[in-house]
Amino acid sequence: MAIRLEPADRTNWREMIALKLHPEQETFVAPPIKSLAMCYVRAWGEEYDYLPFVIRDENAVVGYVTLVCDPLSADDYWIDDIMIDAAHQGKGYGRQALNLVLRLIAGKYPRCAKIRLTCFRGNVNAAALYLSVGFVKTGRMTPEFLEPEYSLSGAALDKFRA
Ligand SMILES: CC(C)(COP(=O)(O)OP(=O)(O)OC[C@H]1O[C@@H](n2cnc3c(N)ncnc32)[C@H](O)[C@@H]1OP(=O)(O)O)[C@@H](O)C(=O)NCCC(=O)NCCS
Repeated sequence: MAIRLEPADRTNWREMIALKLHPEQETFVAPPIKSLAMCYVRAWGEEYDYLPFVIRDENAVVGYVTLVCDPLSADDYWIDDIMIDAAHQGKGYGRQALNLVLRLIAGKYPRCAKIRLTCFRGNVNAAALYLSVGFVKTGRMTPEFLEPEYSLSGAALDKFRA
């Protein structure tokens, strides 16, 4: 089933904050209400664009994703949070959403040469998804989480340009 990204706004935020994870996944990503709050307070700095989206299929909000991007930078473009509701995982929504997100960033930000994210040790499902689209482990730990950083650049990123 096709999905789309819809900016989080007054029409959909209640569905967004109702999203749930399996209990063992809850440390992997911020709850949607926290992610929205971090956008509101511009938690990572003034220089960033904060782009929270709900992920919607034909019938319902099935997940959310928050992007944090410094449009003047070459390499400060982050998938800050992404999740698919526990009831909807394993149906291909995560892969579709990731593809849309990568196309969105590559299309919207001409200076972008690198997209980055943190994927916690132990989050093997998400890591497999990221590696399969061309992300690599950078070998660094992100300062905020002290967990592995992944990045997408070069030819692997060019595949997502228009
Ligand atoms: C990671 C997540 C976004 C993937 O979304 P999803 O809709 O479940 O994933 P998809 O059905 O699109 O599967 C995509 C890939 O993820 C991996 N994957 C997903 N579920 C898996 C499972 N139960 N077992 C093994 N691999 C799995 C596979 O590599 C799969 O590849 P495939 O398309 O070849 O089958 C989702 O599981 C999630 O929200 N997890 C909890 C929050 C989280 O960890 N967010 C990421 C933070 S870095």
